[in-house]
Amino acid sequence: MEIYLDTADIEEVRKLSQVLPIAGVTTNPSIIAKSAQDIETLLPELKVAMGGKGRLFAQVIASDVDTMIEEALRIGNVADNTVIKIPVTEAGLIAIKQLKQKNMLVLGTAIYSVSQGLMAALAGADYIAPYVHRMDRQGSDGVRVVKELQTLTTMHNLPTKILAASFKTPRQVVDCLLAGASAVTLPIELAYSIIHSPVVDDAVTKFTDDWQNTFKRRLL
Ligand code: E4P
Repeated sequence: MEIYLDTADIEEVRKLSQVLPIAGVTTNPSIIAKSAQDIETLLPELKVAMGGKGRLFAQVIASDVDTMIEEALRIGNVADNTVIKIPVTEAGLIAIKQLKQKNMLVLGTAIYSVSQGLMAALAGADYIAPYVHRMDRQGSDGVRVVKELQTLTTMHNLPTKILAASFKTPRQVVDCLLAGASAVTLPIELAYSIIHSPVVDDAVTKFTDDWQNTFKRRLL
């Protein structure tokens, strides 16, 4: 199982790498634009924030095959162990095949349906990223799409891993992992909502208070 952080926030990556079993960091053009950092400096800094290990994901912005390939090769030179995210469009499917011929690691992104995800897997993508919450918002069922993609990749022995993305709740994450997804990527707020909980804090405070009210000293 691989857990990623979906962010370009270097400080949060540094902090959360100490707490969670982070396999790496995923980004997209919107996330990087929000951070206003240059991709050439950002990717190596994210790597350092993870202690020099871990996988990075960065996406092309071009919409034509040749420029997608050109951008992918440039991203691949910025930091090692970087997976190139290619939107699964008509041009994207061609780019995925060509990048696999060049032995690049590729993730098919912006997946909103089972059939689209399957085509990316058949094109040879190492990962596919179904957008769970965005599908839910459209009236589709994101977890069901992940389940069906998992069933198809297993049934047909496709090596493509499902990296489920676009989450708003911990339940969506757990449901995707129960459906067999190999990987999930968590936005920072969601990662904190998993590890910070008022009810857990209340329970722990009550234990301490009960102890102190009786013994008025440390445990040992
Ligand atoms: C991952 O590939 C996507 O870029 C990302 O998880 C989308 O998340 P969002 O729907 O919260 O923007």
